[in-house]
Amino acid sequence: MASFSADRAYAEALDAGDQLAHFRDRFVRPNWDDVTYLNGNSLGPLPIRTQARIAEVIDQEWGIGLVRSWDNWIQLPRQAGDMVAEHLVGAEAGQVIVCDSVTVNLYKLACAALDARPGRTVIVTDDDNFPTDRYVLAGVAAQRGCELRLIHSDMDDGVSEQALAEALDDDVALVELSHVAYRSGALANMARLTALAHDAGALTLWDLCHSVGAVPVQLDADGADLAVGCTYKYMNAGPGSPAILYVRDELQHQLRQPIWGWFGQREQFEMGPRYDPAPGITSFLTGTPDIVGAIAVEEGARLLAEAGLPQLRAKSVALTEYVIALADVWLAELDFAIGSPRDSGRRGGHVSLRHDDAWQLTQALLRTGVIADYRTPDRIRLAPAPLYTSFAQVWDGMNGLREIAASKSYTDIPIDPSGGSS
Ligand SMILES: Cc1ncc(COP(=O)(O)O)c(C=O)c1O
Repeated sequence: MASFSADRAYAEALDAGDQLAHFRDRFVRPNWDDVTYLNGNSLGPLPIRTQARIAEVIDQEWGIGLVRSWDNWIQLPRQAGDMVAEHLVGAEAGQVIVCDSVTVNLYKLACAALDARPGRTVIVTDDDNFPTDRYVLAGVAAQRGCELRLIHSDMDDGVSEQALAEALDDDVALVELSHVAYRSGALANMARLTALAHDAGALTLWDLCHSVGAVPVQLDADGADLAVGCTYKYMNAGPGSPAILYVRDELQHQLRQPIWGWFGQREQFEMGPRYDPAPGITSFLTGTPDIVGAIAVEEGARLLAEAGLPQLRAKSVALTEYVIALADVWLAELDFAIGSPRDSGRRGGHVSLRHDDAWQLTQALLRTGVIADYRTPDRIRLAPAPLYTSFAQVWDGMNGLREIAASKSYTDIPIDPSGGSS
C-alpha cells in the first residue's frame, strides 16, 4: 500500500484491498448512496437476513404457529447468548443470556454482587461512566445504604489503573466499569483492572455496550465476574433489542438476582407456590423474553462471526487510524483536537473529535447526509463500523466536516440549549 495521502484515491485503494468490503451488501440500504453513516455505535443498520428472519417469525411462527411456537422460542435467550459467548465475548457456553435492557441487567447484577459480598458496602465506578450505569448504581447504593465511590477518569483517556487502585479497600464489594468509554472510545485493560479489584476482594461488572462486536473481548480469560452489553450498536440487532448478561460459571450458584420472575424459575410451568431459581444462567431471566429481538441478536452475532472478529478489529483499527490521520492534516488547524487515545491498542471502535462548536457542526453534517453524533461537552463521535463502512465514506465524512468547519457554514444553526444529541 502506498504511504498515506489525503487524496480520495488513497481511500479508494484501501477499499479495493478490503476483504470485508462485500459485507456491506448484507445490509438493507435503500438510501445508502445519499447517506454517510458513521453512527453504528448508536444504532447499527438492518441486516438483510435479520429482516427476512423477523418476517418469518412474524408471519409463520407468530401468525400461524401462535402459542405453539413457544416450544422453539423458549430456548432462544440461551441459544443467542451462547452464540454471543462463543463468537464475541470469549466465554464458554452457559454463561451469557440475552434478556431485558442493559439498565435492568446492571441493576440485577449489581444487587446480586452486593448480596454476594456481605459486610462490604462500597460500589466503585468512574465519574465519566455512561449515565445509566452511574444512575443505576447510585439507586442501588441509596436503597441499601451503601456508598457509591466515583473515581475520576480522564474524558479522553479513560480510567487509569492508579485511580482504581487508590479507590480500593476492604469495603469495596463491586467495581463497575465500561470496557470502552462511550465518549472517547478509550479501551480499558480488562485483565489488569479486574485483577486489581480481585486483589481487594471485590467483584467486577463490565459494561460491554461499545465493545460487543467492535473489539475482541475475553471475559473468561480476563477473569471478569459479570458483564452486560447492548446489541443494537455493533451487533445490528435493532432499536431496543435485548441486552446480553454474563455471569462467570462458578458464581452462578452463589449469586441471586433481585427480580424473582417466573422465567428464572426452576420448573416454570409447575406454577409452584414459591420462587426456586433455575440452575445456571437461566436464573438471571425475569419475565417473558423479547423473541423478535432475540432472533435479531442471534442473526447479528452470526453475521459478525462470519466476518470474523479478528478481521473486523483489524479493519476497525485501520478505519479509526484513518480518521485520526485525516483529522491531523485537515482539522487540527481548524481548532479540532483528538478526544480519544491515539494508540489503537487503547481505542475501541470510534473516534471523538473535540471542537467548541461540536453541536452545530454535527447538525450541519447531518444536513449534508453525514450521520455522526454529538456528545457533551464538545465532541463529535465518528464510528466507522468495519462490517459496512468504507474508507471512501470516512473520507467523505471527514471532507464534509472540513468544508463545513472552514466555511463556517454551520453558524446559522441555533445552539441547542440542552446540548441534546440525535
Ligand atoms: C455504555 C453504555 N451503557 C449503557 C447504555 C444504555 O443501556 P440501555 O440499553 O439500557 O438503554 C448505553 C447506550 O447507549 C451505553 O452506551
